[in-house]
Amino acid sequence: MNIETRPVPPLDPAFQLSPERLLARRNAKWSQYAPDVIPAYVADMDFMVAPQIQAAIRASVDVADYGYPMRNGEKADRAVAHAFVRRMQRLYGWQPDADLTLVLSDLVQATYAGVMAFSRPGEGVIVQVPNYPPFRTAVEDTGRRLVPLEMTVQPGGGYGFDLASLEGQLEGVSVLVLCNPQNPTGRAFRREELEELLAFAEAHDLTVLSDEIHCDLIFDGARHIPFAGLPGAAARTVTFNSATKGFNIPGLRTAVMNFGTPELLARFREGFPGRVMGSPNALGIDATVAAWDEAQDWLAALVAHLQAMRDHLAARLAAELPEISMQRPEATYLAWLDCRALGLDRPAFDVFHDEARIAFSPGANFLPGAEGFVRLNFATSQPILDEILDRMVRMVRRNR
Ligand SMILES: Cc1ncc(COP(=O)(O)O)c(C=O)c1O
Repeated sequence: MNIETRPVPPLDPAFQLSPERLLARRNAKWSQYAPDVIPAYVADMDFMVAPQIQAAIRASVDVADYGYPMRNGEKADRAVAHAFVRRMQRLYGWQPDADLTLVLSDLVQATYAGVMAFSRPGEGVIVQVPNYPPFRTAVEDTGRRLVPLEMTVQPGGGYGFDLASLEGQLEGVSVLVLCNPQNPTGRAFRREELEELLAFAEAHDLTVLSDEIHCDLIFDGARHIPFAGLPGAAARTVTFNSATKGFNIPGLRTAVMNFGTPELLARFREGFPGRVMGSPNALGIDATVAAWDEAQDWLAALVAHLQAMRDHLAARLAAELPEISMQRPEATYLAWLDCRALGLDRPAFDVFHDEARIAFSPGANFLPGAEGFVRLNFATSQPILDEILDRMVRMVRRNR
């Protein structure tokens, strides 16, 4: 692995939140565990929000504008659909249709609804594993069968997948849940990999639910390719996206679900007519439009910081904790840490929690049996990341 040892540039003051302000927040990340535990789990960042987003929210808050919202003469959610289309065209040259874009509050809800609309009970749904935990529950809670597409470390390093491994399991499979960039491995799939997935979906007539929520968080050398933009993909693709990860506004509950063709939307509507999916609130709508249309410079500064944190993490792990292996993420602020070589006799999450006072995400949440793994969230300041690493090092040295 090519380890970067460059010094980490100081965090732009506009992003900084003191430990006191972090602890005073009422979000899950900083409230769930005891005060002496450093949280590094849920996908939430320890930074101030972009000023453009804050200003957009203030415009409503200052005048208590809380009625049913309209924007530009249309129902307000349309403003999000149009902003999504503009952004996809501007950044990726993909032209989704605003009229085929539902605006809702929750992408987990969209995953459940997508699985239910495009498969029948008992049918198979392919999910890359390890996976964002609600993908698994969306399949299991709705009585479908999970067909795992394993992400494995490739001979040259980095995670990849082998579609041939699914042979013999494809009877009655109707949906593929794609997570790109992938949580928790941090892979941003190359065009060839996506084309291979598309050819496979065509060969087996699968609907692809493509969750692209982490697409804003991409590092040097990788780029995001919307799956539905591949030639021929739109007719079988439903794309999920939101500003909530890249711009750190998950509590504002605003997301989009884009259908590649009117036929796909019509099929979805058979199970989920009209307004069954609900719609987001006015503050989330304004925040999302401001994020997507106005906050690209803020995002660029954020991504530069996250990339420096990732490299710092990789360098310190390699130098001080060689027993823990990580394939350097190309995207997301999530690192999937293989701690099996530590030889722990309990789940790695429990040991780090009890003995180092760090709360990672437990590996088994992403893959049953992966108790030897944890997921680390490095979207924080360098002092906090260093404190996490120092605690890990002290704990591992004690147990060596
Ligand atoms: C891949 C992925 N999809 C969806 C979500 C959550 O989406 P929402 O908060 O809109 O339900 C997350 C949150 O971390 C995620 O990582």
